[in-house]
Amino acid sequence: MRRAGGAGDARAAARADMRIVLLGPPGAGKGTQAKLMHERIGAAHISTGDLLRAAVDRRSELGLAAQAYMQRGELVPDPLVIGMIDQRLRQNGADPNFMLDGFPRTVAQAEALQTLLDGRHIPLDHVVSLQVPREELVRRLSGRRVCRQCGTMYHVSSDPPRQPGVCDRCGGQLYQRDDDREETIRARLAVYDTSTAPLAAFYRSRGLLREVDGTGGPAQVLDRIVAQVSPRQ
Ligand code: AP5
Ligand code: MG
Repeated sequence: MRRAGGAGDARAAARADMRIVLLGPPGAGKGTQAKLMHERIGAAHISTGDLLRAAVDRRSELGLAAQAYMQRGELVPDPLVIGMIDQRLRQNGADPNFMLDGFPRTVAQAEALQTLLDGRHIPLDHVVSLQVPREELVRRLSGRRVCRQCGTMYHVSSDPPRQPGVCDRCGGQLYQRDDDREETIRARLAVYDTSTAPLAAFYRSRGLLREVDGTGGPAQVLDRIVAQVSPRQ
């Protein structure tokens, strides 16, 4: 996932402010696409999963509260995640561009996000919903490996590192996320169906939902996203 596609549309997208929510089940490619979009248009990539994993590693109060939920593949309670996002958006300061990856994940979180953005007079521009068949999600998650040092993602068969277990980019050690074991993957997909899938209707009714085919290579998916979020000429 280290090879981004080029697109004239990306330059058009870069000229406009972009506030995007990336929606999609575990393994849909939210993190992969947010990184590629960051390289293309420079918008901040805000991932609640990454923020929570960093809190767990630091053994902060938030991390200690979140850890057991994450290990079971359950959602961390709304108040904890909403407080964390509020703080992260404050750090974004005057920068009007961001991509939210993994947030919101419940209708309560979506309503809280709207309140947070209304309070800052920032409109949300697009909610990109990545569509990927279930068996492909399981294949992607069970083969995912992540660099401990720089966060670059690999897949053991479809995007392997040159040397097994070692990051091509920085030489860091690759690891498998605790929640990428088969049983936890199933639990996460079930949680997505009950708690997060209803957000599609929430955002469709607000005219923000952009459904994007998430199959094919990452560069191809990036092109589809950019085409959806670029300002019409
Ligand atoms: P989080 O880290 O957000 O995990 P997730 O939503 O389950 O999604 P993933 O990160 O697993 O998948 P992704 O869509 O980012 O796919 P990726 O690009 O990595 O959350 C983890 C946990 O934190 C949650 O379970 C919960 O406990 C907690 N949490 C987080 N946010 C929360 C919230 N808002 N509220 C409450 N709790 C929260 O790609 C996956 C694999 O596929 C990789 O190997 C990649 O290389 C490969 N791949 C990507 N794109 C392609 C492609 N086009 N073709 C082939 N392979 C591809
Ligand atoms: Mg992710």
